[in-house]
Amino acid sequence: MAFNRTLITSALPYANGPVHIGHLAGVYVPADIYARYLRLRGQEVLFVGGSDEHGVPVTIRARKEGITTQQVVDRYHELIKRSFEEFGISFDVYSRTTSKTHHQFAADYFRKMYDAGQFLEEVSEEFYDPQTGHFLTDRNIRGECPRCHAQGAYGDQCEKCGATLSPDELINPYNAETGNPLTKKETKHWYLPLNDYQPWLEDWILNQHKEWRPNVYGQCKSWLDGGLKPRAVTRDLDWGIPVPVEGAEGKVLYVWFDAPIGYISNTIELCEAQPEKFGNWEKWWKQNDTRMIHFIGKDNIVFHCIVFPSMLKAQGYNLPDNVPSNEFLNLEGDKISTSRNWAVWLNEYLVDFPGKQDVLRYVLTANAPETKDNDFTWADFQARNNNELVAIYGNFINRALVLTNKYFEGRVPACGEWTEYDKEVMAQITGYKSQIESLLDDFRFRDAQREAMNLARIGNKYLADTEPWKLAKTDMARTATVLNLSLQIAANLAIAFEPFLPFSSEKLRNMLVLDNTIGWDDLGRIDLLEEGHQLGEVSLLFEKIEDDAIQAQLDRLARIKAENEKAAQAEALKNWQPNAIKELTNIDEFGKNDIRVATVLECTPVKKSERLLQFKLDDGMGGRTILSGIAQSYPDPSVLVGKQVLFIANFPPRKMMGIESQGMILSAEDADGKLVVTTVSAPVKNGTQVG
Ligand code: 2FM
Ligand code: ZN
Repeated sequence: MAFNRTLITSALPYANGPVHIGHLAGVYVPADIYARYLRLRGQEVLFVGGSDEHGVPVTIRARKEGITTQQVVDRYHELIKRSFEEFGISFDVYSRTTSKTHHQFAADYFRKMYDAGQFLEEVSEEFYDPQTGHFLTDRNIRGECPRCHAQGAYGDQCEKCGATLSPDELINPYNAETGNPLTKKETKHWYLPLNDYQPWLEDWILNQHKEWRPNVYGQCKSWLDGGLKPRAVTRDLDWGIPVPVEGAEGKVLYVWFDAPIGYISNTIELCEAQPEKFGNWEKWWKQNDTRMIHFIGKDNIVFHCIVFPSMLKAQGYNLPDNVPSNEFLNLEGDKISTSRNWAVWLNEYLVDFPGKQDVLRYVLTANAPETKDNDFTWADFQARNNNELVAIYGNFINRALVLTNKYFEGRVPACGEWTEYDKEVMAQITGYKSQIESLLDDFRFRDAQREAMNLARIGNKYLADTEPWKLAKTDMARTATVLNLSLQIAANLAIAFEPFLPFSSEKLRNMLVLDNTIGWDDLGRIDLLEEGHQLGEVSLLFEKIEDDAIQAQLDRLARIKAENEKAAQAEALKNWQPNAIKELTNIDEFGKNDIRVATVLECTPVKKSERLLQFKLDDGMGGRTILSGIAQSYPDPSVLVGKQVLFIANFPPRKMMGIESQGMILSAEDADGKLVVTTVSAPVKNGTQVG
């Protein structure tokens, strides 16, 4: 099939927080590179973005911040939209799923499928809070774990014992937010019968799209192998698009039903606003000479490869031609998390590193999680800027331009005869176009950018090898040739980096005063700048990033880590439950343990042991030594000296690390979960028995 235009969609981020580097690396930077690349090749492109403003994540945020859901989505939609603009994500449209167009279109879409009998209608019993009148999602239900009997287990998982649960298994389930006890109530929902689409999906994906990335193909295959089941596309919630059928009061479309339809609604909004530029929206969604590419993160694969295509198929829309999903990006070795604030937020980056959009774009592409999860570290960010952008690309451009200014008053000097070495180098330049193109056509952005940087490496090496600053003393004609060719390479770099580093390319174009008519098709040409062409003002293309800027970011992360640890401890304490009482005993049994009081005379770490402390005790009976595995709790064990403690006097002696331990000191877990020694508050005679 010959395609005449490409529709590029990028996952609509939830408007429940700012966008972070994980979103950028996973979705928006690759989608933007691709959109820019196709435009540069002169193709007809429409790049759709927008905010996902329904669903539970935004309502949770509203409750957390104590504001209305509408306020949450307004706040974050604006913030995300502005940050994307400043970062150079070149959407043709960035709208939102609370728009009138979308509410209407998504409701119509549902209605059309409903009228065509494309849903199943089913009544089931779901958890219900009679006091608030709400049905609850799994995560909002808590109760006693049926396995370990911890209180406060979630409807989908017990965090104490790790068991995967369903809300039906919880003992005494309650509403996590209000604490109200729950009952079961019947409710009706509409289901997309994915099982009916299974044979078609198997053929379409497994036979016809073997070229999809292995991670995408593999995930689809495992869903299909598991057998698809009907999926509910409505919910009992009060935030979302009302289900447009009779008898559905209080129900809304499931967020994953309406969000991908947002790609269509946003296309409609754009085409209605600019029909002369983008034409009729149906051209983008129904004509079979339009190709659609979905850029998403790996947690969205099932929705974009199985659920949404089934909805599109049902209504006769185009299907995606490819879904280049990325894996995840971690931050300094930890999973990025909005709720734990473990992220580099785009809006903050733009403030902390003004004018350095391309540095982040470069690093995220160089380290893109295309085939496996990857890690973003600030040290790598600094190294890639200083050692690659500054030392290779920037250094080459600066030397070529400064030397041209110095020897030729900023005019492109005449190119004389090429040496064998010149021919060799220029032959390489000519080959880059098809190399970069084939990688970009294959969605291999990381490799494609690496090739562009290799072009800069070649330029840098060419200058280092030819040394025009030395040549200028003896051979001005050769100096002119070398600088002419260097400037041709510089012009090629401005073009080659355009999809990846749009800001720097523009800056470089301005420095070279590169004609606007020169574009992607000219990549590889060695005659882009004519002899005598006047260059513009020279400035640094990239600047070094100093250690203190990096340290400030690391300090911020360290603060967040400490805050998170504190919050986790507070949460653990809140949910803490004493162990169940042991089986009954009696005074005789208890009396067998000879528990006594002693004063600590010395307390020191045991050499070569991370765990053990050595206590010398005055036990009122001539003294004894006891070892206790609580060193981690006492960085300075001398704080225990002089304290009166409880110990078991009649345990048999035991040797550890060559030292005999004569009993056991009693200790208990403190609020942070560390073992601490139990002390006696009022003075007691050493050797006194406890009972
Ligand atoms: O995972 C997410 O962040 C979703 N908001 C993505 C939605 S993509 C599309 F369907 F809109
Ligand atoms: Zn449990």
